[in-house]
Amino acid sequence: MSRIFELTVEAPPGDIISYHPMRLADALGIKDVNRLAVETNGTSKALVTIYPDDPLAQVILADPQMLLMDAKGRIYIGRYHNGRPSLLRLYDPKSGSAQRLLLFGTTGAGKSTAGQIILAAMKRSGIAVLYADLKGGQSAPEAFGQKGHGDDGNVAWRVTTQEGTMAQLRTTWLTMMDRQERYSRMGRSKFLKDRPDPLIYQIVDEANRLLEKGAPYRDEATFYIKDIGRTGRSLGIGIGLFAQAGHLEEMGGSDTLRAMLKEGEVVLLRWTSSMMKQLVTDGLLPTGQVLAPIPKYAGEVDLISQFDEDHEDDDLPGTQGTAYNVNGRYPSSKMRFWNIGSDMPTEGLDPEVLELYGPGAPAEIEQDAWDLIGDAYGQRLDGMEAYRAVFPEPEEDEDGEEGGGGGKKKKNGSAGSAGTRAASPVPAAATKPRARTLRDRVQAVLDAHDDPLDALQVLELVNEDGGRTVQLGSVRNTLTTLKK
Ligand SMILES: Nc1ncnc2c1ncn2[C@@H]1O[C@H](COP(=O)(O)OP(=O)(O)O)[C@@H](O)[C@H]1O
Ligand SMILES: [Mg+2]
Repeated sequence: MSRIFELTVEAPPGDIISYHPMRLADALGIKDVNRLAVETNGTSKALVTIYPDDPLAQVILADPQMLLMDAKGRIYIGRYHNGRPSLLRLYDPKSGSAQRLLLFGTTGAGKSTAGQIILAAMKRSGIAVLYADLKGGQSAPEAFGQKGHGDDGNVAWRVTTQEGTMAQLRTTWLTMMDRQERYSRMGRSKFLKDRPDPLIYQIVDEANRLLEKGAPYRDEATFYIKDIGRTGRSLGIGIGLFAQAGHLEEMGGSDTLRAMLKEGEVVLLRWTSSMMKQLVTDGLLPTGQVLAPIPKYAGEVDLISQFDEDHEDDDLPGTQGTAYNVNGRYPSSKMRFWNIGSDMPTEGLDPEVLELYGPGAPAEIEQDAWDLIGDAYGQRLDGMEAYRAVFPEPEEDEDGEEGGGGGKKKKNGSAGSAGTRAASPVPAAATKPRARTLRDRVQAVLDAHDDPLDALQVLELVNEDGGRTVQLGSVRNTLTTLKK
């Protein structure tokens, strides 16, 4: 018979409960650490649950309708080991504020798939989404954008390039400026969803590629994300970043951005040990809070003798989508996102994922802002074309600032005099992307991986990062220069 055991544990007065998940499992004679769930109240009490099997092996979404945002502005993204719903807040109806979302995790942890659940929930809830996929559109192919006003699409506008992402950020920012002015004229201090404007989200998948050191628009992107994160909240404009970085320094390297990220709705998927250390150092996770690591595979890990001829090398099930919902109700309790999509990869778009979004057109940016935001959005452009459409040429700058200078200078034009077309806070020099050096790219690959990689693996990963294709010899040379 399969039973669930639940133990309540209390530390002696004055002591704080701490535990090591693996040691605890071993002491209890449990081979599969996934069968064990431990929750602490942060001080002296803990609840230990032992399951007959991994309770998160199957997390099935019964009906896509369940993705709809509830009256408290939360969406149902998956569940905890004990069956309780895991909720993510997109909107706070009381204060009228949009949120900042952060999904962190290493490659393959399930960020983009979790992202699709969130994007589908947004479409169903009438939220207008600007989605940038810096993996060239491979992250979430089903999240295709509208081609123009009124068209079918799963997000209002999707871009897949760095330039397109900058155009989106600028568009989101201008929409924000427009709302700021309109709302103040209306004497309104709070955002009210759909009265008359929709809630908007700017989402950037693989945000690390935009914000890491050496990225071509790093400073400019940081400026926009910071400003949208700070000012957008009360104007119904939220922001979401999905990233591999553990190192917040890599994420734009700005104190304000860091502070903003800390206050966001943070979901932590499988990490590497260097990421974890950084997240704690950066203050994203409380020090002393132990989160049991999320192993890559579920199930028992047994030692197999070379003489065991009966042993079958079955693939272990993966743990993709398992995470900690750090700002949710149970921050130290593992949850798992809905298991979505067809079992076997499909040719082209996955019909089961499409089903999550549902048919038809998504919500769009309000018509009031169309004049100000212009063609990049109107024609749903991408690449340099989108970039040129939103960033005026230097000679058109009203204040005649040439740009290209230091970080401080850019902010001058950004306040937007009376909501008219503000001078671009992006320096002219930024229109010519600075190449990332091979050293930057190799370092990024090494930082994202715990396990030792050989030169060939590094080569493969570097060549997947969207940059110029490089040869093995150059990678070898770079690795040599990185060794200390
Ligand atoms: N919630 C999920 N449901 C079903 N499969 C998932 C889920 N999350 C991840 N996967 C599987 O893991 C793979 C990698 O996930 P992905 O979201 O692309 O990771 P990341 O964006 O973190 O690199 C997906 O292609 C899919 O097969
Ligand atoms: Mg991804």
